[in-house]
Order: sequence, then C-alpha cells, then structure tokens
Amino acid sequence: MDPRINIIEKRLEKVRRLIAVSSGKGGVGKSLVASVLALTLLDKGFEVGLFDADFTSPSTHRILGVRRLEIREEKGIVPMHVHGLKYMSIVAFSGEETLPLRGADISNILIELFSTTLWGSLDYLIIDMPPGISDATLDIIRLVRRSEFLVVSTPSMLALETVEKLLRLLKELKVPVVGVLENMKMGQSFTIKDRINEMGVSFLGELPFDLKVEEALGDVDALAKTAFARKLAEIVPQIISPHV
Ligand SMILES: Nc1ncnc2c1ncn2[C@@H]1O[C@H](COP(=O)(O)OP(=O)(O)OP(=O)(O)O)[C@@H](O)[C@H]1O
Ligand SMILES: [Mg+2]
Repeated sequence: MDPRINIIEKRLEKVRRLIAVSSGKGGVGKSLVASVLALTLLDKGFEVGLFDADFTSPSTHRILGVRRLEIREEKGIVPMHVHGLKYMSIVAFSGEETLPLRGADISNILIELFSTTLWGSLDYLIIDMPPGISDATLDIIRLVRRSEFLVVSTPSMLALETVEKLLRLLKELKVPVVGVLENMKMGQSFTIKDRINEMGVSFLGELPFDLKVEEALGDVDALAKTAFARKLAEIVPQIISPHV
C-alpha cells in the first residue's frame, strides 16, 4: 500500500468536517456552490478551507478572482490564503497549462496533495469535486474517510438520473450525504424534490438561475450580493446542522 495514505488522516485530524461538493453531472454549478459556500461559512465566523480537486479543469480560482497562486513549503505544503480562506488548487503548480491526466495520475496527485497539505485546524474543508462519478469520487471516499457529500443537481431529468446513481453508490458505500441542492432553478419548472425525498435523502433547497452571477465571477463582494449567494446563505444552516 502507498505509505502516503496513512498520513492523510493525521494531516486532516484537526479538520472538523470535510464536505465534498459533487454531482453525477458536469456543469451543474459544483464549483460555484463550493466557492460561495466556503465564503459564506467564512462570513459566519468559521475557519474554512477550499480544496479544488478538479485537476483537469479547475475553476474556483477564477470564481474567487485569485491572481497569483504561490505555494510555500514548511515540512509540508502551506495552503494559500485567499480572501481569508485556506486554499489549494492544482493551478498553483500547473499555472494555465493544460494537464492531460489519466486516472492513475489523478489518484497520485490527490494522495500527494492530501498527504502534504498542512490544513491545520479548520471547521470546514470544502472540496470541489470534478464532474461525474469518476475515479476521483472513489478516491476521495477511500482516502478521506470522514468526507460527507453535498450533491448538486439541476431541475433536469438528465441531471437527476445521474444524481440518483451517485446517491445509490454513496448509500452502498455507506458514505454520509449532507443533502441535495437544486441549482439553476427557473420559475416553477419540474422539481427533483420529491424524487430526492423518496430516496430518503435530505432535499436542501433551490438556488435560482441568476444572470448576475456571470458578471460577478472573480469579484467575491459582487458574488456575495447575488440572489444565488443570498439563497445559499439561507440554506447554509441546514447544510451544517449535524444531521448526518
Ligand atoms: N445558479 C446559477 N445561476 C447562473 N449561473 C450559474 C449558476 N450556477 C452555475 N452557474 C454558471 O454555470 C457554469 C457552470 O458552473 P460551475 O463551473 O460551477 O459548474 P461545475 O458543476 O463545477 O462544472 P464542472 O462539472 O465542469 O466542474 C458557470 O459559468 C457558472 O458561473
Ligand atoms: Mg467544477
């Protein structure tokens, strides 16, 4: 077995809760939810870390408007400080270069970053997951044993079906699920609420499709003022209530 795996638990021992923002589908708003959730928790006075676990198409640095990412080493890698968040992204190593990674490479980077990043004490470590039910999903479950999943869907049958698959997998593997968020809601369209509740999973609420989000990307103050962020802030107490 890879000896680095044993170190991961020790590295994360002072992190109270680890929340992986995930979905069965791509492009549903995982990175936006993860970034705004991290900022909202910070605003509530918690110590928060954000780990961008999407190594092939990372986005959180753009959402947060991070210009320069520099890592510092000190018997491990010190996470960057971004708007008060402890932050880690592959972009600190790769810059704007494309990384064509195979599954085994992704696992290796996950193990390396989790075993070397010095998160220290945190109330929440938010993990922005790559799209779909991939190797990375299985790796996070295997490597970060205390992780809980916050699942994002949209009001579309296509997203719902993949989210149901992910929820079944998580149930089978006995991974705690915080609940499901329905993002990009427009009007009184089809809702996934009933199907999620039927699965015995907590439906956390709806987040509006908000045209203001696009122009606010990269500006955390503008993002906080969007209807999307305000609604997410209302839902946060449910996300962090210790029901799992
Ligand atoms: N509620 C919303 N209102 C308006 N735009 C949104 C909303 N949610 C997400 N978006 C936009 O949709 C796009 C996809 O969002 P995001 O990158 O967060 O999705 P993702 O699930 O992380 O994608 P990927 O699967 O590629 O990682 C982004 O341009 C984002 O700004
Ligand atoms: Mg993303």
